[in-house]
Parts: sequence; structure tokens; C-alpha cells
Amino acid sequence: MSDGFSLSDALITNNNPNPSAPPPQGWPSWGNQPPAPGGFPAYAGPPGAYPGAPGAYPGAPGPYPGGPAGHGLYPGAPGAFPGAPAGPGPYPVPGQPSSGPGFGPPPPQGGPAPPMKVPFEMPLQAGLMPRLLITITGTVNPNPNRFSLDFKRGNDVAFHFNPRFKEDNRKVIVCNSMFQNIWGKEDRTAPRFPFEAGKPFKLQILCEADHFKVAVDDAHLMQYNFREKRLNEITKLCIAGDITLTSVMPTMI
Ligand code: GAL
Repeated sequence: MSDGFSLSDALITNNNPNPSAPPPQGWPSWGNQPPAPGGFPAYAGPPGAYPGAPGAYPGAPGPYPGGPAGHGLYPGAPGAFPGAPAGPGPYPVPGQPSSGPGFGPPPPQGGPAPPMKVPFEMPLQAGLMPRLLITITGTVNPNPNRFSLDFKRGNDVAFHFNPRFKEDNRKVIVCNSMFQNIWGKEDRTAPRFPFEAGKPFKLQILCEADHFKVAVDDAHLMQYNFREKRLNEITKLCIAGDITLTSVMPTMI
């Protein structure tokens, strides 16, 4: 469902210091966008060097307004935020070890981040909203069959993003939604398959006004129109399948 719209079309372009040189797909321009005027507060600063940080990163990402759900969900995240328990550690995440892999402080020498538990569930307390960007880093397992992201409203799946590595010996990305336990029409229009067995990836999902945009390794891949429009009720992200997860980080751009 890639339609050629670029993020610089969709987001702010008039502040772009170099509007005459848009990137080919628009997606990497996230990285150059200033925060929205009157939008979410600019991010006060990087959380420090933590393993699995997404690297070159869009603009000045701000905190996800859901508070605790948006923080402490990535390795080495700073512990202090309103509502967080006192102490140095990150906020505990349901179903994840409170101080084990992925959620403890960064290794002293900045070594590789330990993997997070898969399946992984992340509560999004404020639900989805335009400009919410979720950045997921991980590595595809050897000999993978499939993995999936599910943005859920209760039991319904607002957005299922499902790379399949061996469907009839082909690789395909299947996107869909599920309402009342019934899957809708599959969207198999992703123009390429950017995942490889054994390889690390960065997967970004940007929530816009009426669709999700998906980028992999800083290149736009596809978009998926909202079938569930009650964004604020889509309060859970589930990640499952044949990957190891390094970080999951919601931010506002
Ligand atoms: C089904 C599969 C589900 C989901 C769905 C998407 O066949 O069992 O896990 O991927 O397709 O349409």
C-alpha cells in the first residue's frame, strides 16, 4: 500500500532547512524534521548511551505521553519519570524480568544488549496517536518461519504486520486486522521483503492521521490505512515469532 507519499509530505515540511533536497522516499527525512510547533515538548536529551539505541534518529523525539508505558521499555532507559517508582532501575514491565535481560542498566562497557523476552508485550497507556513512532530493533533468528507485530484494541488486532519467510517457499509480508476473531482482507502489497535470516533490523512504525507508515533500516516500506480508527483504544503492542528483540522504544516526533 505504498502510495508514494513521503513523510515530508505528511508531516511538516515548511521548516525543513533544505526543502529542495528531499530524500527519495521521504522516510529518512523524519530524521531531519524539527519538532512540531506547539507539539509535544522537545526531548530534553538522549537517555544516555544504551545498548540497542536506534542510532540516527528522527528529529528531536519527545516522550510518549503515556508515561510509564513509554519509558523503561528499552534497555538502559532512564528510570526517573513521573509515576515511576523511586530508585535507579527502569520501570518494571509486565511479563518481563524487572532486572534481567533487556531491562537492567546498560552493561558497564556498553557491550551488546541482552535480548528481551519474545513474545513481548508493551502496554501503550495513552493508546496510539498521530506522530507516535515506535522503533523496534532486533535480529531475525536463523531459519525463521515468521514474526509479527500486533497493535491491539482488546482482543482485536488493529494492525498485524507479519513477515513470512517461507510461505510456499516465498517471502511475503502479510498485513491485516482482526475484529471479533475474524481476520479481514490480507494486504500483501509490500513492495519488498527487507528482512533476512540472522540479520539485525530496525523496524519503525509511525502512526499518522489515517494510516501507519512502516520503515525498515531507515527506508520506507509501506503504509497501512487504519481499519480501527479508535486510536486511543489501541493500547497494546505484541511482538512474537522468530526474532530476538533488542529494544522497543515509543517516542513522539
Ligand atoms: C492467518 C494466520 C494469522 C495471521 C493472519 C493474517 O492465516 O494464522 O496468524 O497471520 O493469517 O491474515
